[in-house]
Amino acid sequence: MVINVNASKNYDIEIGRNLLQSIGANISAIKNKCNVCIISDDIVYPLYGEIVLKSLKDASYNVCVFTFNHGEKSKNLNTFMEIQEYLASQNFKRGDLIVALGGGVVGDLAGFVASTYMRGIDFVQVPTTLLAMIDSSVGGKTAVDLPNGKNLVGSFYQPIKVIIDLKTLDTLPCTEYKNGMGEGIKYAMLMDGELESLVTNGVTCSTNVDKFVELCIRYKKYIVEEDEKESNLRRLLNLGHTFAHAIEKLSNYTIPHGIAVAQGLKIISDISLKQGKMAQVAYDKVQVLLDRYDMHIDEEYSINDMLEVIKLDKKAEGDCVNAVVPYAFGDCRIEKLRIEDLKN
Ligand SMILES: NC(=O)c1ccc[n+]([C@@H]2O[C@H](COP(=O)([O-])OP(=O)(O)OC[C@H]3O[C@@H](n4cnc5c(N)ncnc54)[C@H](O)[C@@H]3O)[C@@H](O)[C@H]2O)c1
Ligand SMILES: [Zn+2]
Repeated sequence: MVINVNASKNYDIEIGRNLLQSIGANISAIKNKCNVCIISDDIVYPLYGEIVLKSLKDASYNVCVFTFNHGEKSKNLNTFMEIQEYLASQNFKRGDLIVALGGGVVGDLAGFVASTYMRGIDFVQVPTTLLAMIDSSVGGKTAVDLPNGKNLVGSFYQPIKVIIDLKTLDTLPCTEYKNGMGEGIKYAMLMDGELESLVTNGVTCSTNVDKFVELCIRYKKYIVEEDEKESNLRRLLNLGHTFAHAIEKLSNYTIPHGIAVAQGLKIISDISLKQGKMAQVAYDKVQVLLDRYDMHIDEEYSINDMLEVIKLDKKAEGDCVNAVVPYAFGDCRIEKLRIEDLKN
């Protein structure tokens, strides 16, 4: 299955199984022989690195590898600089290529390196988590974190191809799968229709996941093609994220992004219900989905603590917070909410 994205770059997203074995031949259809750096983390590379390495070498690419410690803690300017220096030491030039093999951390970091090394070299996204497949590998947002907050340094930079091998989900731990489903529930609320019924019926590594990934990506493609640089429509994808970012920060990043997003969806639905915007029936549906995918956390954060964090965030403007407010499944609106009202 191939989905084409027509943004500032035109590129294909290929979705299937056992695609890693033929990745070299696949890339050689769009990229001549060159140096390739596989960027990955210390969990994903031992699982899938050799297959990708061999396939690229078989297709006559000159391949080197950079791996770093897994996890958000590596998504910073230190790792960014180490990779840049590594590429320079390997004599990488403008026409060379980066292959990002891993989850969203690898994709965001490798993409940001690709967008800046020699003012931009090509890169291919090979996402291996559910979250990266349905969200971070598509749309060209790249970034690293600063001590002050997540994704504070980055760029919009599209890959030349995205290769999604669903077979890699076989090794994904349950918690990471759940993490992806947090964003999945978000898509279901934005889109309704087929995706909503699919998510309601149940998506697991082995059931319905192919269709689920496809539908999420089709929605993201539509948004990115309309508003690549997030001036308006793309902000809808921030549904649940205003409070999610606050929860992540308050938990000192021990609560993973997708699970924080699920909490954010719950909070913004509570607010919307109380403000008379969301109907009870839609609200109940959100609760059913959160229960179905067991999206509950033990910690509780007060609205005041969250608002303090949000005030420092990109999403606050004066005494208002920018948020995406769900009215119904398929009807979410970008609005300014008064901080005073939220406190009440
Ligand atoms: N660019 C965007 O548009 C965008 C969108 C959403 C999230 N993000 C970013 O994505 C990041 C989160 O991504 P993530 O949840 O994929 O995290 P991640 O990359 O840290 O991956 C989660 C864990 O799963 C492991 N892993 C990855 N694939 C595996 C596999 N197939 N089998 C076994 N283990 C595997 C990784 O080593 C890691 O330990 C955050 O930094 C977030 O800011 C970016
Ligand atoms: Zn997100």
